[in-house]
Order: sequence, then C-alpha cells, then structure tokens
Amino acid sequence: MNDHPSPPAVLFVCLGNICRSPLAEASFRAEAERAGLEVEVDSAGTGDWHIGHAPDRRALATAKRHGIDISGYRGRQVEAEDFRRFSHIFALDPQNLRDLLAIAPPDGTAELDLLLNVVPGREGQAVKDPYYGTDEGFETTWDDVTAAARALVERLG
Ligand code: 4NP
Repeated sequence: MNDHPSPPAVLFVCLGNICRSPLAEASFRAEAERAGLEVEVDSAGTGDWHIGHAPDRRALATAKRHGIDISGYRGRQVEAEDFRRFSHIFALDPQNLRDLLAIAPPDGTAELDLLLNVVPGREGQAVKDPYYGTDEGFETTWDDVTAAARALVERLG
C-alpha cells in the first residue's frame, strides 16, 4: 500500500548538512526540474554543528560551477517529523544510515535507504565525506550525487 502523499518528498541526509547533502539536494532538484518531475526536496544533517550555517564554500563553488546557486541553503538537523513528512530519506553514507535508523520514530513512514543503492554497480557504497579533503573531492561528490539524482528521477518519474 502506498500511503505516502504525492508528489514524492525526498530528504537527503549527511553528517553536517554543509557539503554532501546540499549538493545532493541541488543536483536532484535540477534533474527533477529537467525531467518535469514534481517533487518536494530538502536536506539535513545527523549532527548539530552547522545548524543555520550556509554550505561549505567548496560546496558553494562546486554547485556554482554546475550552474546552481545554493547560497540560500541553511544547515539543519534531521528531526522526528522528517520520518513522517518525507516519503523517502536517503543517507549519503552507511554511518548516516545507521544514525537515521537509531533515531527513526516508531510511527515513521519514510522509506530509508543508502543513496548510492539507487545507482547500479554502486550499491552499498558511501558518498565519501569531502570535508577534510581537497577541492577535487567535491567534484567527486557532485559526480556521485548526480548519478544518484538521475537514477532517482528515473525511478520516481
Ligand atoms: P557533510 O560534511 O556531512 O558532507 O556536510 C561534513 C561537514 C562538517 C563536519 C563533518 C562532515 N564537521 O565535523 O563539522
């Protein structure tokens, strides 16, 4: 039975909500719009360090290189209501998924999954955290989240 509201509502979750999940949100918004798919999209972090913060400057630059302005995004922490409000919650890495499962309320209705599980051949893999790495890591993040965004648009479309 599908008791989720339509259109689909998709939440992307990483640790800080300033690097990976904002890029996943931006890429998926763009791919959904391109495909004419109506969706609700947001992102959040399991941690609380960056609540109210703009994305990391390297994430801002990466999105900009791909024609998307994410300067208005602000970090927030995932909350119990998210598990009822969203139809799908995608964790950017396996630790994020474990953390989500640990806090999921019993009446949560969202389907939880690892983001790269939607990409054939990438099942079980993490979108690696680029925070402590170099600028190039953010381009790899973009490639990963865009592969997932395209597969997800196919799946939900
Ligand atoms: P994100 O990256 O989970 O992709 O947003 C991180 C950002 C900040 C921190 C860790 C990861 N931090 O420890 O502050």
